[in-house]
Amino acid sequence: MSAVPRVALIGCGRIGQLHARNLAAMRDMCEFAAVADWNLEAAETAARLLDVPHATSASEDLLASPDVDAVIIASSTDTHARFIEIAARHGKDIFTEKPIALDIEATERALEAVADAGVRLQVGFQRRFDSGYIAAREGIEQGEIGNVEMIRDAMRDPSPPPPEYIRQSGGLYRDMAIHNFDSVRWLMGEDPVEIYTTASALVSEDIREAHDVDTSIVTMRFPSGAIASIENSRRSGFGYDVRTEIFGSTGALMVGEYRYTPIRRFSSAGVLEDHQYFFLERFRDAYRNEMVSFLTALINDTDVPVSGADGRAALVIAYAAEQSLREHRPIAIDMKEPDRARSEHHADSLPTS
Ligand SMILES: NC(=O)c1ccc[n+]([C@@H]2O[C@H](COP(=O)([O-])OP(=O)(O)OC[C@H]3O[C@@H](n4cnc5c(N)ncnc54)[C@H](O)[C@@H]3O)[C@@H](O)[C@H]2O)c1
Repeated sequence: MSAVPRVALIGCGRIGQLHARNLAAMRDMCEFAAVADWNLEAAETAARLLDVPHATSASEDLLASPDVDAVIIASSTDTHARFIEIAARHGKDIFTEKPIALDIEATERALEAVADAGVRLQVGFQRRFDSGYIAAREGIEQGEIGNVEMIRDAMRDPSPPPPEYIRQSGGLYRDMAIHNFDSVRWLMGEDPVEIYTTASALVSEDIREAHDVDTSIVTMRFPSGAIASIENSRRSGFGYDVRTEIFGSTGALMVGEYRYTPIRRFSSAGVLEDHQYFFLERFRDAYRNEMVSFLTALINDTDVPVSGADGRAALVIAYAAEQSLREHRPIAIDMKEPDRARSEHHADSLPTS
């Protein structure tokens, strides 16, 4: 490898453009060599704006290129597993956006390719790089709140993504709640053993037509007896809403910071503060930090901080959440040998009202 890794980015959509801007600002840690998107114009625009020497619509060429040491996969979810396998076969270290794949079999095939090639794979669970979540995890580890007994974790998007995104997203659990599944198991320090889901399709006709749900509560039980609830919605009238409350035997930790500007204005009309409207803003620093961690692991030849196994674990929990919704009952989770039955039609078993 050259002094710093030569990096290529695949996918120049919403999240790809953000990773591209971050990589372009890290020239001391990487050589940002190329961008790809099957929409060539998107790749060329990113390359022009960020001074990247090569843009292409042929992602596979970059994944196999001898001039690239590492790839960042930020294309649509249905491409991740295939791109991971190609990149691994060509000896590239890999950062992939979540989820690794929409099904467990494809996830395991990708992880096998990574293991066979002996390359690194980091999954884009950016909450783990947010200063609030890091402080919470450190507080838990240091016994600041005693034994964790309960976690309440909420994530609501301002409004649903476009219909074409919804259709190929894999549904609320594999696309959105997967962040919560990862962060709760990471904060708990153990995997859940039982899960129960209740959900509705209240937010948009497009979501209903895609047989998906948009409003959901999942409860999980852990081996220690601790309990977590996860609330998700594809709509939040006041903007992005991410809050995590961790209750222990001697205290509590609450993660959630929404203001752009650290000021509250008090008047006869009430109390006003501004609000970070979208996840790209709320987790701006976390997205940068996760990329720094990935590049640091490459430069120092160490392990990456979020593994492919973490990506698989969150997907296994998503499957169990869907099974509970389908079967209207609590589901025991076997992380090693999960029930692999899946359906894309999460909403079809909901009562019609
Ligand atoms: N970690 C996070 O918080 C977070 C947030 C948003 C999205 N994501 C994930 O990132 C991925 C992309 O999401 P997005 O919101 O940016 O979607 P998007 O639709 O805005 O962008 C996807 C891009 O990939 C390109 N693309 C699709 N197929 C391709 C192919 N075969 N080769 C090259 N390019 C291809 C599309 O042209 C598009 O530009 C998804 O997997 C999503 O789950 C993660």
